[in-house]
Amino acid sequence: MDKYILAIESSCDETSVSIIKNGCEEISTVVLSQMDIHANFGGVVPEIASRNHVKNITLVIEEALKKANMTMNDIDAVAVTYGPGLIGSLLVGLIAAKTLAYAYNKPLVPVHHIAGHIYANNLVKPLEFPLISLVVSGGHTDLIYMKEDYSFERLGGTLDDAVGEAYDKVARVLGIDYPGGPIVDKLAHTGKDTYDLPLPLNDNSYDFSFSGLKSAVINKIHNEKQRGNYIIVENMCTSFQNRVVEILVKKTMKALKEKNVKNLIVAGGVAANNGLRERLTIECEKEGIELTVPEIKYCTDNAAMIGAAGYYAYKLGRRADLELNAKANDKLY
Ligand code: KG4
Ligand code: ZN
Repeated sequence: MDKYILAIESSCDETSVSIIKNGCEEISTVVLSQMDIHANFGGVVPEIASRNHVKNITLVIEEALKKANMTMNDIDAVAVTYGPGLIGSLLVGLIAAKTLAYAYNKPLVPVHHIAGHIYANNLVKPLEFPLISLVVSGGHTDLIYMKEDYSFERLGGTLDDAVGEAYDKVARVLGIDYPGGPIVDKLAHTGKDTYDLPLPLNDNSYDFSFSGLKSAVINKIHNEKQRGNYIIVENMCTSFQNRVVEILVKKTMKALKEKNVKNLIVAGGVAANNGLRERLTIECEKEGIELTVPEIKYCTDNAAMIGAAGYYAYKLGRRADLELNAKANDKLY
């Protein structure tokens, strides 16, 4: 029988609610972004984010149900991101989800934010196993092996900055407005790879390190300034992005080969990166790997992905009670 999950995501600065059928079909999604508000501060201000979630959450829930032409009686379970994320932001979504589950007597399903990013790919087509997931977001950079639904084995990951975080920091030193990642990506396509930057942690492990590369960018900018020269911003974006993409693609392809896996999915905000999508498409075609990437709008935070992951968590019998608490840090794997 068809199952409808109402999902809530509020871990950072997007208030989002979605209704997903059977983990793969989007019925309705509403994403209310606070990006414009936080852009004034050069980054997400947690206190302001929570206040805006409080202001918006009931409206977003109502809108998602209205768009779907459904009521809570049509919903089988309520899924919610319990972590990781900003604690104040998470709590708003969590309390809304608990209230709905209690008032309408529906099961409450806790979803890890990164499981959500991974399952954004299930909205493109059902995941095929075994697979490797390259998780690249503002807070995570990991290579994950999945042998079946909801089984996550971490092969390796960043030892310091997440890749999205490195993008945002490099953007900031280049004077690019928050959130810088998408703009660096755009500029990278117009520049030339003229700056001599290192290929970070170019070893045999599945780990990554982006803080050294970020420091190399900062040092280059300072050195050039001291010499009275200016940085050509788009060339720096190209050089930085080329190094990031090269190491991500190299280690991902190595994991696919060594694990003898034929399916690759990409997850998280940086999955929207055009340089990464282009290089992975070429390499996967060469190696006969089936590559899936989420629709651009479902790369960054949204509740549709939480509804997709929530369906599998629901099927596995994962339930939370009203004691469920938000977790700023929590491991999926
Ligand atoms: O997954 P996400 O929405 O939030 C977390 O769960 O962390 O990812 C946001 C991150 C930000 O660092 C943002 O700059 C980055 O994803 N991002 C990009 C692009 N689009 C978003 N980074 C590089 N290129 C992009 N096109
Ligand atoms: Zn995210």
